[in-house]
Amino acid sequence: MSSLFIAPSILASDFARFGEEVQAIDRAGADWVHVDVMDGHFVPNISFGPEVVRAIRPLTPKILDVHLMIAPVDPYLPAFAEAGADIITVHAEAGPHLHRTLQAIRGLGKKAGVALNPATPVSVLEHVLDDVDLILIMSVNPGFGGQSFIPSAVEKVAKVRALVGERPVVIEVDGGVTSETAPAVARAGARALVAGSAVFRGGAAAYADNISAIRKAA
Ligand code: DX5
Ligand code: ZN
Repeated sequence: MSSLFIAPSILASDFARFGEEVQAIDRAGADWVHVDVMDGHFVPNISFGPEVVRAIRPLTPKILDVHLMIAPVDPYLPAFAEAGADIITVHAEAGPHLHRTLQAIRGLGKKAGVALNPATPVSVLEHVLDDVDLILIMSVNPGFGGQSFIPSAVEKVAKVRALVGERPVVIEVDGGVTSETAPAVARAGARALVAGSAVFRGGAAAYADNISAIRKAA
């Protein structure tokens, strides 16, 4: 069985105890830490910026998977790279020069990801397949945690899987992932699963069980 990465989204954590929450999911068996960056412009919500990435970097050795829901995005790439992001994912819809943006991320020595909103066709990926390390299929409209999974994401993951072929590209799914929705996307080819509300529930003592329930289901 190929490996599966569970990436809890700290957007669903208790912000008043942010550092402890990051350490709690690290101990609970998270593979990656997913950081949702929102600007109130590309998406209708505001979350956090590079200084938050910098603050959590010393708290965990896990991969920091930074999902940028911001436009423009290019001017902020160096700040997130320098703050300690490992994977930097940008939205295909966020700017006119996706190829250039991906080159910029790799030029900063980071893994480059592309995210697609639910309505964006996978064909936008066709000419950047050799320039990406990760493709993120949104299974909700970005902006908020706790939304319901959009079922058409499963077919979209399968399409991306076929498009990617033998390339070493990780397919990630984000939004409404639970132990009920994880099996279908994993079967379709997703290897990284972002989960916010399904992980951060029941208090820190429950996080390990919440993570392993998704892992086992997938
Ligand atoms: C949505 C974010 C997601 C979200 C996931 O804009 O990109 O990462 O926080 O949260 P849940 O798992 O609650 O849908
Ligand atoms: Zn996200």
